[in-house]
Amino acid sequence: MKSRIFSGIQPSGDLHIGNYLGALAQWSKLQESGDYEILFCVVDLHAITVPQDPVILKKKIREVAALYIACGIDPSKSKIFIQSENPDHAYLTWIFDCITPMGWMERMTQYKDKSKKNGERTSVGLFNYPLLMASDILLYDPDLVPVGDDQKQHLELAADVAEKFNKTFGEAFKIPKIFNQKETARIMSLSNPTAKMSKSDEDPSGSILLLDDAETIEKKVKRAVTDSGNEIQYHSDKPAISNLLAIYSGFSGTSIENAERKNKNSSYGEFKADLASVLVEKLGEIQRRFNELIKDEAHLNTVLDEGRDFAHSISSKKIELVKDLVGLRR
Ligand code: AMP
Ligand code: TRP
Repeated sequence: MKSRIFSGIQPSGDLHIGNYLGALAQWSKLQESGDYEILFCVVDLHAITVPQDPVILKKKIREVAALYIACGIDPSKSKIFIQSENPDHAYLTWIFDCITPMGWMERMTQYKDKSKKNGERTSVGLFNYPLLMASDILLYDPDLVPVGDDQKQHLELAADVAEKFNKTFGEAFKIPKIFNQKETARIMSLSNPTAKMSKSDEDPSGSILLLDDAETIEKKVKRAVTDSGNEIQYHSDKPAISNLLAIYSGFSGTSIENAERKNKNSSYGEFKADLASVLVEKLGEIQRRFNELIKDEAHLNTVLDEGRDFAHSISSKKIELVKDLVGLRR
């Protein structure tokens, strides 16, 4: 049997090149190795842990699914589905709610950060978010879960919850392992190289979106902050240029050393122009595929229906086992 992979992205905000390099491009590579059975989920129930406009959310859910495919996820090799279309995720979350000590949840740093931002409006869902994520993963017994660095603590919690359930009620869950790629695990903001490029950043110039047009891409790259000096060098003293080199390397498919060599005699301005043209070309290809996919509603629906049915055929067996072990039977 092939090893299994599970991962997901929230349909909140617009996907950016950090999501591409840190997640989507890595997923495509794993898919192309042919060694895995893969499930990729659009995690819409996670998105509503903070307020969302219903009309925009609907649009974003389809958009993220189409972007998965446009970025290289091939539905004939991997399954793509929408989290809220498989009720097993929310069901298992309740079971986990009932066996997880409050103290484990109160330690979650992402919750602490996000709840500070949302103040009194912080939802119970935001607090519970890591257990929904544990359910996403544990329903499918994946061998690997490819995510960026920021999700490590959530994955550790999922492993702890799996162990606790197995010990209390009997073996039901495989202990999941994180998988991530060092160089592109953390793409930084173009306007502040000490902060992560993020969907929730209020400054639009910090992120290049996958659906930005050529002119916007060129403008954002031109305005990207640089370091003092003038060498194109990957170095901890040069966080801004190092970030641009990581992006250049990720999108052009050359190593960082090669990118440095190629741009050895370039000015910052020339390097930025080169980077912008690499981005315009690659994102242009993704956008052409995206525009085709988003127009063809029937095709996208077929992909998502098949994905949902496949996911449910696996998760429903897990739910039956869990109900049995917990004693939820007449
Ligand atoms: P999110 O945008 O938080 O829904 O993240 C979706 C996926 O993209 C996760 O696997 C993240 O770890 C990854 N990701 C998000 N932002 C970045 C970034 N700036 N650099 C690298 N990976 C990222
Ligand atoms: N919390 C993840 C993020 O923000 C998204 C996510 C939800 C996820 N469920 C998952 C990722 C399960 C991997 C596996 O990036």
